[in-house]
Amino acid sequence: MARNTIPWASPHYWGNEERYVLDALKSSWISGGAYVDQLERDFARYCDSPHVAVTSNGTTALHLAFLALDLRAGDEVIVPGFGFMAAANVALNMGAKPVFSEVDRATWCTTAKDIERCLSPKTKAIVPIHTYGNVCDMKPIMELSADCGVTVVEDAAEAIGSKYNGQMAGTIAPLGVYSFHATKTITTGEGGAVATRSAEWLERMRLFRSHGMASRRYWHEVAGHNFRLTNMQAAIGCGQLEKVDLISAERHRVYSTYRRHLEDAPGISLQHYHDSVEPVVWAIAAELDAESFPQGRDGVMDQLKLMGIETRPGFYSADTMPHLYGAMELPVCSRLSQQVISFPSSPNLSDEEIEYVCHSLHTCRK
Ligand SMILES: Cc1ncc(COP(=O)(O)O)c(C=O)c1O
Repeated sequence: MARNTIPWASPHYWGNEERYVLDALKSSWISGGAYVDQLERDFARYCDSPHVAVTSNGTTALHLAFLALDLRAGDEVIVPGFGFMAAANVALNMGAKPVFSEVDRATWCTTAKDIERCLSPKTKAIVPIHTYGNVCDMKPIMELSADCGVTVVEDAAEAIGSKYNGQMAGTIAPLGVYSFHATKTITTGEGGAVATRSAEWLERMRLFRSHGMASRRYWHEVAGHNFRLTNMQAAIGCGQLEKVDLISAERHRVYSTYRRHLEDAPGISLQHYHDSVEPVVWAIAAELDAESFPQGRDGVMDQLKLMGIETRPGFYSADTMPHLYGAMELPVCSRLSQQVISFPSSPNLSDEEIEYVCHSLHTCRK
């Protein structure tokens, strides 16, 4: 029987999203509005963060966090060499220099030791990325930050709801950034947020988010941007957030089902989570061993495609893009870049679909 392609991700509406969007439309408040304020309040409560500023996407959230820190041309920002390169690209766009740290072989996240090697007198920010929903080992990273006096901005775009020692990812450092992109754990289509403990940084980010205008209309205190989320997008987010516990539970079911079928399989190493981490897994990913899969990761992706399964490769590591980031050697990042594959990970996948993906993967092994 022909089967529809199983997508890598597909957005799902869990409850009141449509009703709230229509309400926003009918209210005539389609730019800013009550849902924006509500999403900021509700997301802050959910993350247990004193303050949240929502933004037009996760990339502008990172940009705002860097503006809060007064990142300037010539400053350096430490980012992992394996991960989605938004922070590195924002740094470049601000005239700063991304400096890439290695990542751990098993967790695929950067560590305090990796970061320490990249510190210099020019370092202005450290951006650990909580890749695929894992959380970096934050305790030593925060200790390093205290020792060297450099602020940490957690990139928790992929880790909404993941916890580290019981604390929400994105709220361990003074600034944390999230993405509400269509594939993310909760979505607004495009959207993002910054969580912070600092009322001062919140004010600064609000100022930069909206053209540098505060109480006086058309009076620009700083050269700001328009990084605002619309009321219609926020309305989707409010609907999603009401169901975040259900979404997380379903993501957990999906992850556990994959794990049951893949964890002891030869040649397949799932991303490792330390005991300190309770992940809400955003993307289920594994490293494929070259001996068991001599056709290579890309060959496996092609085979799975023919079987109606959409997968994604691991991120290109920073060392593979010297035209943009310069020459460097990051052997672990480079290896992950070649060998990691991520599988369909939507929270609404059925167990039967997951079993089909795992069975298909097993047939690709030598
Ligand atoms: C780790 C990470 N950081 C930042 C971003 C940027 O978020 P957005 O796509 O919402 O701009 C993403 C999004 O894909 C991401 O995965």
